[in-house]
Amino acid sequence: MRLFLCVFLVLFEVVCSVTRPNIVFILTDDQDVFLNGTGPMSKLRQYVSSQGATFSNMFVTTPLCCPSRSSILTGQYVHNHKAINNSVDGNCSSPSWQKGPETQTFVTYLKKSGYTTFFAGKYLNQYGMDETGGLSHIPPGWDHWNGLKGNSQYYNYVVSANGKAEKHGSDYKADYFTDVINRKATTF
Ligand SMILES: *[C@@H]1O[C@H](CO)[C@@H](O)[C@H](O)[C@H]1NC(C)=O
Ligand SMILES: *[C@@H]1O[C@H](CO)[C@@H](O)[C@H](O)[C@H]1NC(C)=O
Ligand SMILES: *[C@@H]1O[C@H](CO)[C@@H](O)[C@H](O)[C@H]1NC(C)=O
Repeated sequence: MRLFLCVFLVLFEVVCSVTRPNIVFILTDDQDVFLNGTGPMSKLRQYVSSQGATFSNMFVTTPLCCPSRSSILTGQYVHNHKAINNSVDGNCSSPSWQKGPETQTFVTYLKKSGYTTFFAGKYLNQYGMDETGGLSHIPPGWDHWNGLKGNSQYYNYVVSANGKAEKHGSDYKADYFTDVINRKATTF
């Protein structure tokens, strides 16, 4: 009995010592200072950017959408993850990307270390297409998956809701994608 109690306490301490913070990662496109991308977004400026930091001397390893997103996911340069452009034949969400780099993203590592993971929004430009496995493909590591089919669309789009097609029309209240992402994330 004493031994059992001792073991239990040790386990409990281990569990307590590995509690970690929640992580919220928001990725937005096309909001650079040069193009005045946040100009029309007064609330974003008021609540987020004016209270944060602006990078006035910033570098990315590639300025192209799918390769850059693939680098964010894997931590690898384009010459290593090989997603060289926004097309399937350039490895954007391609079968070989899915067999290789996509199995080792920051998400798979978070999942392995005990995090519960949630995604909502645009993923990779060719995600959800027939030639990239369709909407039933859920990238490894995600417990809750809401991936937009294809490239940026705010109305008349399809989302893979945990592998099932969720079709949206053009009703502002029901379908505006930014708000749909917001509702799903808030519910999570
Ligand atoms: C940025 O956009 C806002 C809103 O459209 C506009 O009022 C402002 O003049 C723009 N600033 C520049 C530097 O173009
Ligand atoms: C796509 O990825 C595969 C597997 O890494 C690689 O063999 C192929 O050369 C890549 N395609 C391009 C266009 O880089
Ligand atoms: C993407 O890369 C592939 C492989 O090099 C090429 O065949 C294709 O034309 C490229 N697509 C674009 C849009 O540049």
